[in-house]
Amino acid sequence: MTVPQYTFPFKHLLGIEPLSPLDVTSILDQAKAFEEVCENPEIKVVPALRKKLVVNLFFENSTRTRNSFEIAEKRLSAEIVNFDAGSSSLSKGETLIDTATNLQAMRPDIIVMRHSAPGAHTLLARHIDASIVNAGDGAHEHPTQALLDAYTMREHFGKLNGLSVAIVGDIRNSRVVRSNLWLLTKMGAKVTLVGPPTLLPAEIKETWPDVELSYDFDEVIPSMDVIMMLRCQFERGTGMYIPSQGEYAKYYQLNAARMKRAGNEAVVLHPGPLNRGVEITSEVADGPNSLILKQVTNGVPVRMSVLHLLIPSRVQLTLNAKTPKFLKNRGNLIFQKLAGGDCSPPYQPAIKRNAV
Ligand code: MLT
Repeated sequence: MTVPQYTFPFKHLLGIEPLSPLDVTSILDQAKAFEEVCENPEIKVVPALRKKLVVNLFFENSTRTRNSFEIAEKRLSAEIVNFDAGSSSLSKGETLIDTATNLQAMRPDIIVMRHSAPGAHTLLARHIDASIVNAGDGAHEHPTQALLDAYTMREHFGKLNGLSVAIVGDIRNSRVVRSNLWLLTKMGAKVTLVGPPTLLPAEIKETWPDVELSYDFDEVIPSMDVIMMLRCQFERGTGMYIPSQGEYAKYYQLNAARMKRAGNEAVVLHPGPLNRGVEITSEVADGPNSLILKQVTNGVPVRMSVLHLLIPSRVQLTLNAKTPKFLKNRGNLIFQKLAGGDCSPPYQPAIKRNAV
């Protein structure tokens, strides 16, 4: 049996907006295969990006996302350069385009970038041959966060279609919410955005008309499968939109009392970093319904999957009886790149080399 060929139809991952449900499903399916690789102490590292140069270009602070990308790159055997914007020529007045053309001269294969300006990645993509991965651009998109959120939800519930998802808090300043809105609505989830009127712009309905808006968290909670809390982005001025942190917490904090209103099966997500005691209490963040650390774990295989799909050479996989069951699912194409690599048993599939 031959896996139906799927080729990621984009050179870059700039956002979730242009992706089809098949693209999303394929990324998540392949991430499942990479998760098995990560979890197997006999494997952990695969040669999929061997000899490929990945530059991590972070103009905004990040710990979790940057580390997660770097681990994903290492697990794929990429060569990695971490570009620290603070100590770069940018602080001496170099423009983004100057930086891009200089980077281009070093022939990177992939650039993972975080930038405070929405659309900075689109600009970069016009000036550089490498594939660009958006690791967050202002309040616009953070596609790999939405993908890992979706992976976590799908892993837990076995589906995305039909899930009721509340996304709660600082909607105004969040790129996580925008990527999640694109993804979840494409995949058939029912999304309710919750927050105070000042942080919940009504214009959201113009782009996502099927999304519900609510100011009443207590009312929304009981019918939700997933409660995704957002960080209050005080560095982006959230403080100007709320009377005080205490007042905000009174109505919008996810705490033990509110969790009692949720069904036992409801799960809690948060993209991190957490403002403990503001949008979420430690009791809930570290409690039995929380999948927050699972999200962090899942970030690595999901990012491996994205990076892998962006690198174009393909080798067709032929499955046989020895192929692990999970690989037989449509879209699990991990071994395209492993062909000819040093994958060890039981991950030694029968592979017909067939570059496309
Ligand atoms: C982001 O970079 O947007 C984070 O993952 C979420 C946050 O900072 O609140």
